Amino acid sequence: MNPVRVIEAKRDGRELDPEDIRAFLLGFLEGTVEEPQVAAFLMAVYYHGMTPAELGALVEVMLHSGAVLELDHLPAARIDKHSTGGVGDKVSLPLAPLVAEAGIYVPMMSGRGLGHTGGTLDKLEAIPGFRTDLALPRFMEVLEAERMAMIGQTAEIAPLDRRLYALRSVTGTVPSIPLIAASIMSKKLAEGLTGLVLDVKTGSGAFLADLDASRELARTMVALGRERGLPVVARLTAMDRPLGQAVGNALEVAESLACLRGEGPDDLRTVVLALAGEMLAMGGAAPDADVGAEQAGALLDSGLPLERFRRMVEAQGGDAAVVDDPGRLPKAPVVREFLAPRRGRVAAVLPRPIGVGVVEMGGGRVRLADTIDPSVGVDALVAPGTPVDAGDLLARVHARTESDARRMLAVLEAAVLLDDGDPQRPLPLLGERISAG
Ligand code: URA
Repeated sequence: MNPVRVIEAKRDGRELDPEDIRAFLLGFLEGTVEEPQVAAFLMAVYYHGMTPAELGALVEVMLHSGAVLELDHLPAARIDKHSTGGVGDKVSLPLAPLVAEAGIYVPMMSGRGLGHTGGTLDKLEAIPGFRTDLALPRFMEVLEAERMAMIGQTAEIAPLDRRLYALRSVTGTVPSIPLIAASIMSKKLAEGLTGLVLDVKTGSGAFLADLDASRELARTMVALGRERGLPVVARLTAMDRPLGQAVGNALEVAESLACLRGEGPDDLRTVVLALAGEMLAMGGAAPDADVGAEQAGALLDSGLPLERFRRMVEAQGGDAAVVDDPGRLPKAPVVREFLAPRRGRVAAVLPRPIGVGVVEMGGGRVRLADTIDPSVGVDALVAPGTPVDAGDLLARVHARTESDARRMLAVLEAAVLLDDGDPQRPLPLLGERISAG
């Protein structure tokens, strides 16, 4: 396999031989194919897409680039959830302990921030000491003890996704149906699951803003699961505004803890319970997703999932005192308020510029080697539809410097739109449900 020929073929829109895809990407892992070559390949895939045979080959090489877990010895269903990525999407943090509390195993393998969106791993690592890079034996111990563990793609599981994911994030090649589908499904197929629930974000803050493209992504992943014997249910959820009121790693952990205490914003709770309902139904803990969501609501209010989260944080090396005192999370030195310039109604809160703004304040990566500042972000973010008076708080900016705060305030001025007439029609928070049936 000559890597240049593979890139040229894809660049020119020719179908690749599955064996060439395999050799090219394994060469990347082994160091015989260079990073710029893979970046060029990803851009060619971005423009030309992939045939089903190419996508199948990509999923297989990613899945088998590391270990595939064998969890049949566990005494209950193993169900995970994965999101296609959004702004303020912290759903996994409350969801995993909630579903584990209901008796289902949740071996969750998440990602880092990608493009303008945040990632579960970066959020969890905002908790001082928290380790997302557990070795497999320790991951299994935590999973067996707490019915849940939360880690990232490792050198042992889906290592190729880890490398490609990081490269896509800094090369503008994220919004591609085959690349997203292969990234998500290869990790999930490696987890030894009995079922998978997908949260497919749609709207301007999602990687695929368009409803039809979101549907196609959902159908592609459901089909990849079906072909490999994994039941998959996808739920489309709104990402035409940020989810919840916080965007930024530590701030999102604080909001997740509020959700686990039965507080927190309604939209976050609604999505968490809907996805929990799907997971409970899939795992046989509820007769259907609606009843599952009701059961999950009662369970969330019992406080038991919060206790499970605390034990998981401790088991993964984190400062569990954060659970009672989110004030122990990293704090940004500069906090500034964004106030309503006049009376009106919030017509829209545009998620993408807010996500990009938080990344540029240091909350995400624009280069491979960037380290993240967990403290920066935005909270107290107003929701679309809210009537406001001049001087009302629309958001709070947490920044490293005055100039970063000023830049983010300017972003918010352009992203939080006031209007005196009817608010723009928001997407339904919970949209279509797509499954193999
Ligand atoms: N989540 C992933 O794991 N991969 C993607 O490409 C997008 C979201």
